[in-house]
Amino acid sequence: MRKESTAATAFYSLNVLLFPVTLIGYLLWIVGGLARANESKVSMTAQGPLTVRWTMHQLGVRRDVAAARIMPILPGVPWLASRLTSLPMFFAHRVTGFVPKTFRYPFDGEVPPQLEAAARVTFFDDVVERSLPEIDQLVILGAGFDTRPYRLPRDTSVGSFEVDLPATQEVKRRVLDEGGIDARGVTFVPADFAKDDWLAELIDAGFDMQRPAVFVWEGVIIYLDRAAVEATLRRVAGCAKGTLIAFDYFSSLAVESSQPYWRFARAATRRAGEPIRFGVDATPPLAGRVAELLAACGLTLREQRTLGDESGSRRAWGGFTVAAVE
Ligand SMILES: C[S@@+](CC[C@H](N)C(=O)[O-])C[C@H]1O[C@@H](n2cnc3c(N)ncnc32)[C@H](O)[C@@H]1O
Repeated sequence: MRKESTAATAFYSLNVLLFPVTLIGYLLWIVGGLARANESKVSMTAQGPLTVRWTMHQLGVRRDVAAARIMPILPGVPWLASRLTSLPMFFAHRVTGFVPKTFRYPFDGEVPPQLEAAARVTFFDDVVERSLPEIDQLVILGAGFDTRPYRLPRDTSVGSFEVDLPATQEVKRRVLDEGGIDARGVTFVPADFAKDDWLAELIDAGFDMQRPAVFVWEGVIIYLDRAAVEATLRRVAGCAKGTLIAFDYFSSLAVESSQPYWRFARAATRRAGEPIRFGVDATPPLAGRVAELLAACGLTLREQRTLGDESGSRRAWGGFTVAAVE
């Protein structure tokens, strides 16, 4: 315990000392990002979760060779800026061996909104790991630069599918190729949840409706409108019994709150061209509201981790959920 706290003190001291390097990195990233905003149709919000997985790989807590290979060649990521922002942390980690709590979910206490992206990676990994021995179809909805299919064993019998908007998917395929990642076991299905019958396209591409599947919908539903969220859940509900869908979401608190954090989150995503659109009704208990949403779409709530405090008059801001076709 004492050793851990000494390592933590040394880790954070080094980060404070090297903060100017981090700051320069962030400034370069923001300026570069703003200059290029809307230049391409590739999802900018998809860079965030990739950065989290790449960081976890660098810190040795989650092996992800594909993330490590595609991160440096991803168009739109200013590589020098991203190296500078993370350099102090990686250096401090190398010297002290300490890994910040952010990257060690599940951790004691609450998950604050700024740690959501890191926490959810482990939550979804856990769902996939527990389910795949019995289920042999993995579908990543709004896959962005998710690398889960490329972490499966080479001889896996699991068939993986990725659904995303065409522009983002095209870039994903190109960087996987350039990064030397074998994507032969993965079927890419370009589709828009708001406009296309993505399930019909998935079936055309080889998805088997008679066999259960695990759907991972990570970091996506906040960007959709209610109609697209419900339509997607309904389509999943039409899949075989035993099918699971795991997703994270914000509550309506995040969508309406005037707190500075949420105002900033809304402004930043708007600027990226992917505004936050959807929040589950925050009236407590949030788990009950999610269960209602799922039931209305033909699914059953299996697991729920509520994020935020629901005591007294407080309302939760989000959650991680697993639902099933029963
Ligand atoms: C924050 S990223 C998350 C990416 C990925 N799930 C991950 O965790 O790395 C959101 C993703 O949802 C995709 N997306 C947003 N709206 C979509 C839509 N209407 N149809 C299909 N994909 C969409 C974006 O292209 C982007 O890849």
